[in-house]
Amino acid sequence: MRRAGDTPRDASDWWRDATFYQVYVRSFADSDGDGVGDLDGIRDRLGYLELLGVDALWLTPFFRSPMADHGYDVADPRDVDPLFGDLDAFDRLVSEAHAHGIKITIDLVPNHTSDEHVWFTEALADPRARDRYIFRPGRGDGPPNNWVSVFGGSAWTQVAEPDGTPGPWYLHLFDVRQPDLNWEHPEVRADLEQTLRFWLARGVDGFRIDVAHGMAKPADLPDMDPRAGNTIGQHDLYDPRFDDDGVHDIHRLVRRVLDEYPGAMAVGEIWVTDNERLARYLRPDELHLGFNFRLVLAPFDAAELRTAIEASLATAAAAQAPPTWTLSNHDVAREVTRYGDGHQGEQRARAMALVELGLPGVVYLYNGEELGLPNVALPDWAIQDPKYFRSGGQDRGRDGCRVPLPWEGGEPPFGFSPGTSTWLPMPQDWAKLTVERQLEDADSTLSLYRHAIELRKSHAAFAGTELEWYGAPAGCFAYRRKGGGLVCVLNASDTAVPLPPGEILLASDALADGMLPPDTAVWLV
Ligand code: NOJ
Repeated sequence: MRRAGDTPRDASDWWRDATFYQVYVRSFADSDGDGVGDLDGIRDRLGYLELLGVDALWLTPFFRSPMADHGYDVADPRDVDPLFGDLDAFDRLVSEAHAHGIKITIDLVPNHTSDEHVWFTEALADPRARDRYIFRPGRGDGPPNNWVSVFGGSAWTQVAEPDGTPGPWYLHLFDVRQPDLNWEHPEVRADLEQTLRFWLARGVDGFRIDVAHGMAKPADLPDMDPRAGNTIGQHDLYDPRFDDDGVHDIHRLVRRVLDEYPGAMAVGEIWVTDNERLARYLRPDELHLGFNFRLVLAPFDAAELRTAIEASLATAAAAQAPPTWTLSNHDVAREVTRYGDGHQGEQRARAMALVELGLPGVVYLYNGEELGLPNVALPDWAIQDPKYFRSGGQDRGRDGCRVPLPWEGGEPPFGFSPGTSTWLPMPQDWAKLTVERQLEDADSTLSLYRHAIELRKSHAAFAGTELEWYGAPAGCFAYRRKGGGLVCVLNASDTAVPLPPGEILLASDALADGMLPPDTAVWLV
């Protein structure tokens, strides 16, 4: 039998205009009935993903982990957690995905490990084995500096020495169970290289790099401007936790390895809004792609969305890399909810799907977006996100966008699992949103996505990488792909506007009398 690793990787720049689909592994499909999604569950649904038309998957972490942050706390980066399957299941998934024409990319979590990683247990047991992490003596009775954890509270936790006396503090930019690695340590670098090669040899086509703007820290760990807090995009305020210049050396290391495997790529999770600083991550010897989160951060407002698109295009052009668009992921509220929930939220999300899929470059869809799923308001007892607990319940965390996908039938778990319960409860009213129901309905959000992805892949109007903007009525915008001529018009105002001339390729909602209704987008040629 051919092993996954024997599958020839496509040497081209396949990722330049790819449609990626993020699989939040816990929530996509459960094959064994424990209520948590797994690798065999994904394999069972490859036919669906092929029908949807996506080119590649991004799988969130499935590595050995105590799951304090649902897998972003990795205890062994070169093994599969039994919750999700085993290495054979992974090989089967890669090989069958490739047979369906779908590439597989996986998460890489280099900023931190789990507190159950062998390096950290050694570090707790032996003060001489602490160099792979960031241990420092306290300042007076308190932590070494004023850094805060992204999940709330201090970014430092004090340890007790093996003899019970108070010891130093270790840094964790995220949960207390996610100690930050010391990237000055040669073993930390060598281990990352080993991990990259391990998965590349098993046939993966690329990586998504978690906290790609983290990892390197300034040597003297200076205090942050307390006003920087955890607000994304506050780069005018001094925040030494992220985007330290030393990070680029680490990305060069990653790139050197990937360049030995033709066709392999990396995309960085880079929460940096300054265009010039973001572009640095995309230099020719660094990452192939960088998420640009401006569309996630922008409200449903034509002027703000246009600014977000222009800024993303400018960054990409400066870096000579394709822009990378996304409307949501497992860390942010789903767009239906961000845009107001209910019918209006759904309409706006459908319109934004056309805005996004009409743009040049790379698109990352988040599983369930194609079904128009909203966030779920979960009861307190169901919440699992460490963010909720570290913020003392003030931040309800990210579970609401991670509820398992509804596949078929009229009752939870809607075919997600052969068992009866799911790791997060699924709302009864998702019966109307199942894949089964939507596949039968030509007007469903799933049908819209299928149609849009198909056109994006096959229609000549999508050629070229440049955009131009047309004048448009207040509250609207219109862009045109310079190469192929696709025109996309968004009406984010509250009145219908006349459609520009052209043949309609696809609309996010019904059009009548030559008018584009509010909260609607259209593609024309
Ligand atoms: C970003 C990931 O997307 C998020 O889910 C995780 O909690 C943090 N990084 C820490 O790894």
